[in-house]
Amino acid sequence: MPEFIPVIKKDDIQRQITRIAAAISADYQGRELIMIGVLKGAFLFLADLVRELKLEKIKIDFLQASSYGADTVSSENIVLKKDIDVDIRGKDVLVVEDIVDTGLTMARLIEHLKRHDPNSIRICAMIDKRERRKVAVNVDYACGCVEEGFLVGYGLDYAENYRNLPEIYHMKL
Ligand code: IMP
Repeated sequence: MPEFIPVIKKDDIQRQITRIAAAISADYQGRELIMIGVLKGAFLFLADLVRELKLEKIKIDFLQASSYGADTVSSENIVLKKDIDVDIRGKDVLVVEDIVDTGLTMARLIEHLKRHDPNSIRICAMIDKRERRKVAVNVDYACGCVEEGFLVGYGLDYAENYRNLPEIYHMKL
């Protein structure tokens, strides 16, 4: 049975979401924002974040990249499993991800989205895990930074389990 050590409590997640929602609302004031959630891990974060934004025009879509499966280390071979449906040409795009770790997934997604010719692309991640970064990815909005460890809960999974946990835990196998 794995051990679960609390890392970010529900109240802290909510406080951080309120903080970044204020920043995003200020930065995109008067503009239409296209939010692209990265499935599946960002589903709770995106749902809570979008309800805190004070913007009139928001569209939401999703992308999905290949996952870790039952592993806790990143695969270098990132496959796009689901593409977006909305037209982002000339639009301001905010990619909403659960964790940016090595950065390989995000770099691949950004490269893909750029082919659709958006006006701008920024990155919002619940957790910025910089320790294992392999490619330069700049996270514009983050709820928190974590140095190491495999996290579960609040959308984050291990082999598809634990996404439903209301807080973020460090899982020790
Ligand atoms: P990267 O390509 O190494 O940046 O990894 C990005 C993806 O790996 C994220 O979208 C997550 O789905 C997954 N991931 C990275 N770290 C963790 C973790 O600590 N817990 C759960 N999933 C993670």
